Amino acid sequence: MPELVPEQQLDVRAAELFGRIFSAAGKNDPYPIYAALHECGEAITLPDGMVAAVSFDAANEVLRDPAYQVQDAARLDELWPQWGDHPSSLAHSLLTTNDPAHARMRALMAGTFTPRRVAGLTGTVGQVADTLIGRMAELAAAGQPVDFMAEFAYPLPVTVICELLGVPESDRLEFRPVARRLARGIDFGDDPALTTDADEAALWLRGYFAGLAAARRAAPQEDLISALVEVTGEDGQLTEDELLVNLTLLLFAGFETTTNLLGNGLRILLTKPDAEASLRAGQVTADAFVTEVLRFDSPVQAGTDRWRPAAGQLRGVQVPAGAQVIALLGAANRDPRRFADPGVFNPARPDPGALSFGAGPHFCLGAALARMEGTVAFPRLLGAFGQIGTAAEPVRRSGVALRGFDRLPVTLA
Ligand code: HEM
Repeated sequence: MPELVPEQQLDVRAAELFGRIFSAAGKNDPYPIYAALHECGEAITLPDGMVAAVSFDAANEVLRDPAYQVQDAARLDELWPQWGDHPSSLAHSLLTTNDPAHARMRALMAGTFTPRRVAGLTGTVGQVADTLIGRMAELAAAGQPVDFMAEFAYPLPVTVICELLGVPESDRLEFRPVARRLARGIDFGDDPALTTDADEAALWLRGYFAGLAAARRAAPQEDLISALVEVTGEDGQLTEDELLVNLTLLLFAGFETTTNLLGNGLRILLTKPDAEASLRAGQVTADAFVTEVLRFDSPVQAGTDRWRPAAGQLRGVQVPAGAQVIALLGAANRDPRRFADPGVFNPARPDPGALSFGAGPHFCLGAALARMEGTVAFPRLLGAFGQIGTAAEPVRRSGVALRGFDRLPVTLA
């Protein structure tokens, strides 16, 4: 059967390319690898039987089609019976639950995390951004380079998510390192030390939120924890376990991702003078800029693992029953079948519609909040500093699924 030979060759090449995403060069710049993967096909089978959705259409299908399920507690029981010893698995959270439990939880949580609540935070985001900008201006006036990640991109989202949830100011300093430990362990990788660290972080957060939820139950306030406590405990509502694990998910999901949106966006302004000039001149709106940052250098490069209970096809590739499936969002957002000149940063693209916030039932609950933080932050940064320059080479964070920087030293004037 000669026609099978080229297909097999393509798979070997695709599997080799996929492996390169995890190399130092791939972590630094996965985009040439994605471009080569797009030439191999829309979906690829890896040697261990896993299937990776590479094209926009393939990733979109995996995220939307109920034939693909996230790995919930029942599935974890089969694959990883010790999962109960690992609180960082975040089992029973929105991201690790399928219908009908997911639909029940999602409706309850979306009912509390409303557009009105998000819009109500706009002023706070502006105030926090201004305070951080003031501090950066002081550092710059003293002639020091400023690490944008430490001084702005980390503190802004963590302050905002704490404000949203209702975490008192006195407790907030503790959150940042704990949330980071959780994120590092959850990102792709099989370093047991990181998993242990993430488990400890998840356990700490669970204990913390249990205390805070009890306090709000006794004396409700205007915050999201109080609203979530109100929809916990009765039949058809959240269970206590679901409340605590989803609070942890909100903190984790709402923090590192937005940090990376801010860092990746600033790096684009630093390296693409045209993008900076058109944003400064108002030729590009902050909203369009943020949308294109999310596509061009996606903070989340891959969806959480899916699997297929029954065998099927994904864009012409056979997916056996039980196969693990991953949607490569970062690759999908650079698919030349979907986006003209995908490697060009162009906030004026006619059809943005990227998969940066996922799609389907697990579409990001915090998308509006993250967008709002970006659209408030970038114009304020450009308004405060006439010149923003690179002070030293940035340092990338080590993960693959969450793409961003650990350090991004800048000069500000
Ligand atoms: C730029 C910032 C952000 C990006 C790029 C992002 C990206 C994503 C993506 C890709 C998913 C879907 C994952 C999948 O289907 O496997 C997701 C889900 C989720 N995100 Fe975000 N996110 C961001 C900010 C936020 C914020 C600020 C919050 C909350 C405060 C948040 C909360 C969530 C939650 C709760 C889910 C799970 C939804 C569900 O399973 O029903 N995210 N996010």
